[in-house]
Amino acid sequence: MVEIRVALGPRSYRVSIGEGALRFLPALGRDRARRRVFVSSPRVWRHCGRRVERALGEDVAPLLVPDAERRKSLAGLSRLLTGFAERGLDRRSVVVAVGGGVVGDLAGFAAAVYMRGIDWIQVPTTLLAMVDSSVGGKVGVNHAATKNLVGSFHQPLRVVADTALLATLPRRERRSGAFEILKCAVLADPALFRHLARASADPAVWNRAQTERAVAGAVRVKAGIVARDEREGGLRRLLNLGHTLGHAFEAATGYRRFTHGEAVGLGLLGATEIARARGMIATADARAIGDAVERLGPLPAMGDLPLAAILGAVARDKKARGGRAVFVLPTGIGRAVVRDDVTPAQIRAALAALAAREGRA
Ligand SMILES: NC(=O)c1ccc[n+]([C@@H]2O[C@H](COP(=O)([O-])OP(=O)(O)OC[C@H]3O[C@@H](n4cnc5c(N)ncnc54)[C@H](O)[C@@H]3O)[C@@H](O)[C@H]2O)c1
Ligand SMILES: [Zn+2]
Repeated sequence: MVEIRVALGPRSYRVSIGEGALRFLPALGRDRARRRVFVSSPRVWRHCGRRVERALGEDVAPLLVPDAERRKSLAGLSRLLTGFAERGLDRRSVVVAVGGGVVGDLAGFAAAVYMRGIDWIQVPTTLLAMVDSSVGGKVGVNHAATKNLVGSFHQPLRVVADTALLATLPRRERRSGAFEILKCAVLADPALFRHLARASADPAVWNRAQTERAVAGAVRVKAGIVARDEREGGLRRLLNLGHTLGHAFEAATGYRRFTHGEAVGLGLLGATEIARARGMIATADARAIGDAVERLGPLPAMGDLPLAAILGAVARDKKARGGRAVFVLPTGIGRAVVRDDVTPAQIRAALAALAAREGRA
């Protein structure tokens, strides 16, 4: 078991990582007889509900919300808030979100706005949610065809990441999370990078210790950055490594072709290529990052996507700074910088290199 503290002064909390971490759940948010409500999705509860109930030693009647991405909406939020009201939650009640990033973002946002904010606990059930969405307090919903357009910062009381819950997660979803772990390694942790290179290329066969090490490594990177920049004034942008192009790939394919992690893997390849072409990273390091992405592959094709669609999506990225796309570029294994001077020509050249690589594969 590993415990990582997200140091945010009065909003500090711990992330408990490992098989059996659910045992912490009974005591959490239980002080002074507070009412707790569990939020999950039908599929997640089917896979994980029994384990949660066993850890609690009692039956739970969760509020179930669909976890399709398009249901992470204001309508979904409204239904959940109605559920809170019908259950009689008050300002001292506690929401426990059991699920992937969709359930976490939705339930967390509901907790952020219900009666101007009530406490919540995250029980992430996907690898991506364990290493990314459950840490850092960003919550929200999609709106007007824009991902996460409406949201808030609302840090949880605690994150309970029981890696035993990953047993039922489809292989492709595990790989999706593994790309985010790799992103953290490239960004800030050479030892984690080496760990990933030594572990199996298939995260579905990582053993208990390997999984725990990988999740903890990524959470440590994210927690360290969030602690220094809770509201994304600057440093936190580093976590968007691979995401400028990644989001563009997702948007250009209507969020249907790539899992989020796959898009980030491709985006990481693209950012590395831009850095290499600009002479910002040693060729050997760039190659090592490329190999690490390929190892976790296969990645769906991007070579057939119209260039204009990808460039258009990059330009529309809501994180663009005064109309200029912001890129995070790796400068070595464990180092990266934020740049807003990447030119369309440099982006085009990197996309051509990605497409050419596909042609060779
Ligand atoms: N808040 C943040 O900082 C942050 C960061 C990254 C991503 N996100 C958000 O997270 C969402 C993606 O999260 P995700 O990748 O966890 O996807 P998800 O929540 O959609 O879950 C993926 C699929 O796996 C299923 N599933 C979940 N746990 C399972 C388990 N243990 N066994 C079997 N099936 C299981 C779900 O039902 C779903 O079909 C996006 O909406 C994204 O915007 C938020
Ligand atoms: Zn991401």
